[in-house]
Amino acid sequence: MPNPYRPATRNPQEQFWDAHGSLKTRYFDDDVKQKIKFFLSSKLKGRNIELGGGWYLSHPGSLVVDLSMACLVRNPALEKMQFDLDSLGRGAKLPFKDASFDSAVMVSVWQYLQHPDHAICEIERILKPGAELYLVHGQGAGIDRYIVNHTLTEEMEHHFRSLGYDTLVENIPMSNPDTRIYRSLCVAMPSGKRAWRSMIKDKESREERNKMILRDPSIFLESYLSHEFNEVKSRLEKLAEVPVTAYSAGYMDRVQRFSDEIHKETGGVPYLFTEYRPEEELSMMLVDGERAVDATLYLSGPTCPINGDTLERAMSKHGLQFNVVSRYFEHEGNLRRELLKDRVVRSKDSMVRYAYFCSAAALNTYTREEQERLMSQVWLMDEDFGSMVLDQKALVYRLATSETAQERKIDRLIALKERILSEKIPLAGHRRFDHSKMMPVLRKFIR
Ligand SMILES: C[S@@+](CC[C@H](N)C(=O)[O-])C[C@H]1O[C@@H](n2cnc3c(N)ncnc32)[C@H](O)[C@@H]1O
Repeated sequence: MPNPYRPATRNPQEQFWDAHGSLKTRYFDDDVKQKIKFFLSSKLKGRNIELGGGWYLSHPGSLVVDLSMACLVRNPALEKMQFDLDSLGRGAKLPFKDASFDSAVMVSVWQYLQHPDHAICEIERILKPGAELYLVHGQGAGIDRYIVNHTLTEEMEHHFRSLGYDTLVENIPMSNPDTRIYRSLCVAMPSGKRAWRSMIKDKESREERNKMILRDPSIFLESYLSHEFNEVKSRLEKLAEVPVTAYSAGYMDRVQRFSDEIHKETGGVPYLFTEYRPEEELSMMLVDGERAVDATLYLSGPTCPINGDTLERAMSKHGLQFNVVSRYFEHEGNLRRELLKDRVVRSKDSMVRYAYFCSAAALNTYTREEQERLMSQVWLMDEDFGSMVLDQKALVYRLATSETAQERKIDRLIALKERILSEKIPLAGHRRFDHSKMMPVLRKFIR
């Protein structure tokens, strides 16, 4: 990324923030970031600038400014720029014309600024008259060594008010009641043509809504949940029909031959499955994609008749590379008998284990058939079993559709599907996925 704005005088903290950025340090849980993002999405319209964005984009389409290049390279913003906000205290200016932006956002940055009043003047200059600045903070949060300013929203508000700005504090509720309290401070930029006049728009109704949310956070959280649910649904709909690449089909053949060979060599039954991949992902594997699949192997047999070297050899013979191959699941008799025996002693843990096994994406026919047998037999003994399996499956889909480290795995799959179709990558067919039954279950995992 070109870096025309690297300050001549380096901020001594640049190295520190770079180190954080390189570690991909997340300053907040994904859950918290999502709520902040949702809150901001209801407030911001037009062109936004995010100051001190780090490697996180709090509002899509924003221009992001940060001191740390290490953070910026990871930031998904299309427009980003390195700039030391402390250089404003030494007479520097942000490289934007007056009135360039409709809003500005700073999430947990204010407390680190050496010259906050210079930053205020500059933000006022680059924002349009009447625009709003949002400062979002976990109350009292910050990296102690670097805090030079207020870390409580009330204190910040007091400061802005003393400078004549109109302000509004709004709460951002979190699903987890143990999470720190998050507040947003909205600061109105002056808009008067003749006289300097700062006034928050719709202040009364916003104050009223904030009071309601304080009394009943579910008002905010329910609308967040509906929004998130619709996001998940629309993404899964984009995947309904998934191309099975010729590479995937070939890969599965190789896994089957590998499994047959293990079976022949050891007399044991190799159950091979992958737990955290939605099935769509397995259908769309590409030769240039990830070569190693995270897989678990339960080798069911009377003894433990295989060692790591034999496995390695068999994998390399078939051009396979599994990231994690579990140690052998050694027990007498077959897996089902063992599992059902456990069931007789009514162990809840083992039920969870079968549900986990049955919900995983099977990599060979031994596993698929065993899953089907287990499903029908255990179901007869415990009718909750089916919903436990569905829960496990839905959890995998939730992990794929939730935003972690500011990306959703599902977006990579959607992009992959588009690439497969547009580049006419060789296919072995299509599979239809109907996620509708899973949606009510998946909803439970959205918080
Ligand atoms: C606690 S992190 C918050 C990052 C991001 N806003 C978030 O919500 O995850 C503070 C960010 O402010 C940036 N920062 C600190 N001092 C800065 C300065 N003088 N100029 C520009 N950015 C600065 C850091 O590089 C870091 O990315």
